[in-house]
Amino acid sequence: MSPKLSLILLLFAISTSASRVLAIGVNWGTTASHPLPPPQVVELLKSNNITKVKLFDADPLVLQALSGSNIAVTVGISNSMLRSLNSSKKVAESWVHDNVTRYFSNGGTGVRIEYIAVGDEPFLQSYGEQFHPFVIGAASNIQIALIRAKLENKVKVVVPCSFDTFQSESGLPSRGHFRPDLNKTMIELLTFLSKHQSPFFVNISPFLSLHQKKNISLNFSLFKAAAHPRNDSHKTYKNSFDVSYDTLVTALTTAGFPQMDIVIGQIGWPTDGVANATSSIAETFMRGLMDHLHGKLGTPLRPRDPPIETYIFSLLDEDERSIATGNFERHWGVFTFDGQAKYRVDFGQGLRNLVNAQNVKYLPSRWCVVNNNKDLSNASASASEACSIADCSALSHGGSCFNISWPGNISYAFNTYYQQNDQSANSCDFGGLGLITTVDPSVENCRFSVQLQSSLSASLHGSWLVQWMVLLILTFLEYLLGFAYY
Ligand SMILES: *[C@@H]1O[C@H](CO)[C@@H](O)[C@H](O)[C@H]1NC(C)=O
Ligand SMILES: *[C@@H]1O[C@H](CO)[C@@H](O)[C@H](O)[C@H]1NC(C)=O
Ligand SMILES: *[C@@H]1O[C@H](CO)[C@@H](O)[C@H](O)[C@H]1NC(C)=O
Ligand SMILES: *[C@@H]1O[C@H](CO)[C@@H](O)[C@H](O)[C@H]1NC(C)=O
Ligand SMILES: *[C@@H]1O[C@H](CO)[C@@H](O)[C@H](O)[C@H]1NC(C)=O
Ligand SMILES: *[C@@H]1O[C@H](CO)[C@@H](O)[C@H](O)[C@H]1NC(C)=O
Ligand SMILES: *[C@@H]1O[C@H](CO)[C@@H](O)[C@H](O)[C@H]1NC(C)=O
Ligand SMILES: *[C@@H]1O[C@H](CO)[C@@H](O)[C@H](O)[C@H]1NC(C)=O
Ligand SMILES: *[C@@H]1O[C@H](CO)[C@@H](O)[C@H](O)[C@H]1NC(C)=O
Ligand SMILES: *[C@@H]1O[C@H](CO)[C@@H](O)[C@H](O)[C@H]1NC(C)=O
Ligand SMILES: *[C@@H]1O[C@H](CO)[C@@H](O)[C@H](O)[C@H]1NC(C)=O
Repeated sequence: MSPKLSLILLLFAISTSASRVLAIGVNWGTTASHPLPPPQVVELLKSNNITKVKLFDADPLVLQALSGSNIAVTVGISNSMLRSLNSSKKVAESWVHDNVTRYFSNGGTGVRIEYIAVGDEPFLQSYGEQFHPFVIGAASNIQIALIRAKLENKVKVVVPCSFDTFQSESGLPSRGHFRPDLNKTMIELLTFLSKHQSPFFVNISPFLSLHQKKNISLNFSLFKAAAHPRNDSHKTYKNSFDVSYDTLVTALTTAGFPQMDIVIGQIGWPTDGVANATSSIAETFMRGLMDHLHGKLGTPLRPRDPPIETYIFSLLDEDERSIATGNFERHWGVFTFDGQAKYRVDFGQGLRNLVNAQNVKYLPSRWCVVNNNKDLSNASASASEACSIADCSALSHGGSCFNISWPGNISYAFNTYYQQNDQSANSCDFGGLGLITTVDPSVENCRFSVQLQSSLSASLHGSWLVQWMVLLILTFLEYLLGFAYY
């Protein structure tokens, strides 16, 4: 290459990367027993200057709340729909019509849908091959439906790929490749994406890398300058993010798509449920990540070419997420389930602290605890039963409630079950071992939560009132008989 040409190319590269706006968004999942109402979540996004959001479905209530907000939206298609979307263009057409087209309207009252995410990590290794054969067909049919709806210039079709779609046995980015069982599918996917100028959506997880691979230090995961660097063919890697990113870049290059744009679909750090999952470590990780992205330095294999967009995982904690990969899964939120910031992170609001959700409607200030005056020899069985249904992830090893002593942990289990069941009196029975209290049993970092009023509990308001009355009468009787516990 002539020096002149390379100079022009260099200037071009600098000008395009400089004009590129750093785009940070969040994932908004709703796998919660009592999700924060969508209008309040949209307020939360706006008050924190969050301009992009990635959804896992196309819930009409969520999309309605996003109408007119000017927030850019990725709508999602669940894995369970892939089979029918692959086999029928009609199904794809009605999906696009019902969940995309009708939100496009003139006059700024519509929803700014940018991407349709086909499947949620359909290639995750633990799923086996159950979704592989349908992904490309489903994506193609959705694309055809978009063209029919004349939306192909506004909305792009993407496939969120899990962190385990690519790998490097030696841990060196220069040896990156796609998982062998995916070679053929990946070529098809990349061909499809490149044909439609759509980016490659990928989830990167320095937290999971720390967990699964023994040879990564916490400092390396947290972008700490003190971390021991890793050398790889004349390149020096200073953090776990760059290692994962460049492993993917090598895989893309090897597959014949070296220029493919990359979007980080999910990246975050959980705050509970296992060792090293704390708010303070999460804050350090986020600061390191934001500084890295804002620095626009890119990675050793893609200098000055950072990911075009990055979606933080996640906005809120979700108490019904699967814990198949670990108890931390329910604690990815930058905000707690009720929209309270756990730590500081700069979404573009600068030095200002994050703004919490406003006017959050809680159930009454009541908790369910174990009655210490009873024979507790069988209490553990009741607690296990409660935990098999409700969220006890904070009780696990390394979790925020791990070191509260027995029977405090039994109370924790009883309360989480009671809250999940909208504080119905019979959900605090436990064979007579449960006791309803108005005194907050929280200890230090271990928070005994009071759940949100959900639309479900609101509709049960009638039976609610009856329970209240019964409780009042019982308390009064107990008082008369001298059995008052508190
Ligand atoms: C962030 O949002 C607030 C409130 O929505 C607004 O007043 C402020 O101008 C925004 N800041 C930036 C930097 O966009
Ligand atoms: C996907 O759909 C195509 C077109 O209908 C069909 O030929 C193919 O068999 C389907 N794939 C699978 C795995 O069912
Ligand atoms: C989207 O569209 C399909 C097909 O019309 C429909 O079955 C589904 O309920 C809609 N909503 C979501 C969240 O997928
Ligand atoms: C997939 O690709 C990797 C490297 O790119 C290669 O080692 C492997 O043999 C390939 N597997 C198949 C099934 O083609
Ligand atoms: C991690 O980095 C900190 C400085 O940020 C340093 O004090 C500490 O010794 C490092 N830990 C290890 C295990 O290298
Ligand atoms: C672990 O990583 C260090 C550098 O980070 C490297 O020198 C060492 O060879 C690695 N060990 C193994 C077993 O991969
Ligand atoms: C990595 O490379 C740097 C210079 O590029 C060198 O100073 C350092 O010693 C190397 N580290 C290892 C473990 O080889
Ligand atoms: C958590 O971090 C510490 C260092 O602070 C490390 O020794 C430990 O192995 C880590 N635990 C896990 C499960 O990653
Ligand atoms: C504990 O459970 C066993 C078996 O269900 C039962 O026989 C026993 O009476 C129970 N003890 C108490 C104190 O409830
Ligand atoms: C439990 O652990 C936390 C953090 O590890 C600590 O701050 C707290 O003092 C511990 N509580 C008890 C009762 O040991
Ligand atoms: C509560 O703590 C006791 C003693 O540490 C332990 O044996 C029991 O399994 C714990 N129960 C739950 C539900 O965490």
